[in-house]
Amino acid sequence: MNIVILAAGQGKRMHSHLPKVLHPLAGKPLVSHVIGTARHLLPERLCLVYGHGGDAVRASLDAPDLAWAQQEPQLGTGHAVMQALPHLAQEVPTLILYGDVPLIRAETLNGLLHAAQEGLAILTVKLADPAGYGRIVRDAAGGVARIVEQKDATAAERQICEVNTGIMALPTARLGEWLGRLSNDNAQQEYYLTDVIGLAVAAGVTIRTVHPQSDWEVLGVNSKVQLAELERIAQRLNATRLMEQGVRLADPARLDVRGGLECGRDVFIDVNCVFEGKVVLEEAAEVGPHCVLKNARIGAGARINAFSHIEDAVVGPDSVIGPFARLRPGTELGAGVHVGNFVEIKNSRIAAKSKANHLAYIGDATVGSRVNVGAGTITCNYDGANKFRTIIGDDVFIGSDTQLVAPVVVGRGATLGAGTTLTRDAPPDTLTLSRARQISVAGWKRPEKLKK
Ligand code: UD1
Ligand code: CA
Repeated sequence: MNIVILAAGQGKRMHSHLPKVLHPLAGKPLVSHVIGTARHLLPERLCLVYGHGGDAVRASLDAPDLAWAQQEPQLGTGHAVMQALPHLAQEVPTLILYGDVPLIRAETLNGLLHAAQEGLAILTVKLADPAGYGRIVRDAAGGVARIVEQKDATAAERQICEVNTGIMALPTARLGEWLGRLSNDNAQQEYYLTDVIGLAVAAGVTIRTVHPQSDWEVLGVNSKVQLAELERIAQRLNATRLMEQGVRLADPARLDVRGGLECGRDVFIDVNCVFEGKVVLEEAAEVGPHCVLKNARIGAGARINAFSHIEDAVVGPDSVIGPFARLRPGTELGAGVHVGNFVEIKNSRIAAKSKANHLAYIGDATVGSRVNVGAGTITCNYDGANKFRTIIGDDVFIGSDTQLVAPVVVGRGATLGAGTTLTRDAPPDTLTLSRARQISVAGWKRPEKLKK
């Protein structure tokens, strides 16, 4: 089939500079959800009709398989599909989707395409409150006669609660012919795609209607209120999928996945965590409350404690991170690493069983195994112009409040005394310290307040 995605509408009610279809839902643009679903159906041609904010839309979608049809000015849905016609293969049917109806399921569309094999099929729903939608007008025998838009409908037609979702599948060659016959003689002075239904009926084409399994599939986004409603639905779907795969969620209503979250069995996620980009939680990993994980891999059995922030990082199996830890891009932790509160790590590799349990900054460092990084230790990796690496061998013990002024190497098994400012390499298996000698002044007296 051909697939046409209509996305030229202005989206005035979003009150935004961003074109409507680029507003993010579950971390990606609305229209990207539709494109993703469309690709599942393996269309021969995939065409996006764009208009408002066209350049921004083109620039932000990485879609080499997409044909772009500009609609300028926007004279209605029928006019929009007309712009796509030159891109469509004549011998296969055409499926119309909306760029602002992001949660439509591929299974539903397959059902619609199947129903269109004998002619034309429309996806419809019955709504308790059909206001605003085009109504499906049926003849005495119950067949579809036409679609009438709300603004053109009579009072009696407005009572009809079966509405047009806008999603339909049609025979392409006939579609071209019908579109050519549309007029804009209606309340909105637009070329309505919905008017092709009346023409198809007149031509004796079989018209079937199909319903989605759930009404949320056909919900559109016209405002930020609706966007937020759809976000909750999308997140509930994410949560359900994860739980069905064996993930335990403290509260499925307090989970936000803005990208792809892949989980092993027996993973546990506490409340109010945000997952962005591609995150992998391996078997039995646990994420405490209020954590943000972006493009991260968390090893099996690792525990991320409350309020930790992890981005572009890998955490080894059985490691314990946080609470209040920050792993910045380029952090790679081996197995059983402990990173405690107020520890920041950037662009560093830390091998198995090393610990930095309190208040430390480790940047541009390579740290061996079983290293103990004392509280208040920092790598001075930046001289104001350039960055340098710190290399710390296996089994090193770094006393509290140590500054490692990079570039510097700490040999394996070395011990650095507390308070050391290390500016030269420290030899292996040796105590190194830089510290003013402690003195005690005998007979010294505290000053007393002067008498006036
Ligand atoms: C349309 C249908 C209506 C249906 C409703 C479902 C028509 C005439 N009416 O109404 O029967 O119940 O959708 O939501 O088709 N678009 C363009 N170019 C245009 C106009 C619209 O690309 O010139 C795109 C929009 O970006 C949007 C979609 O088409 O994705 C629907 O447009 P919208 O204005 O929301 O249609 P409605 O008037 O609500
Ligand atoms: Ca609409």
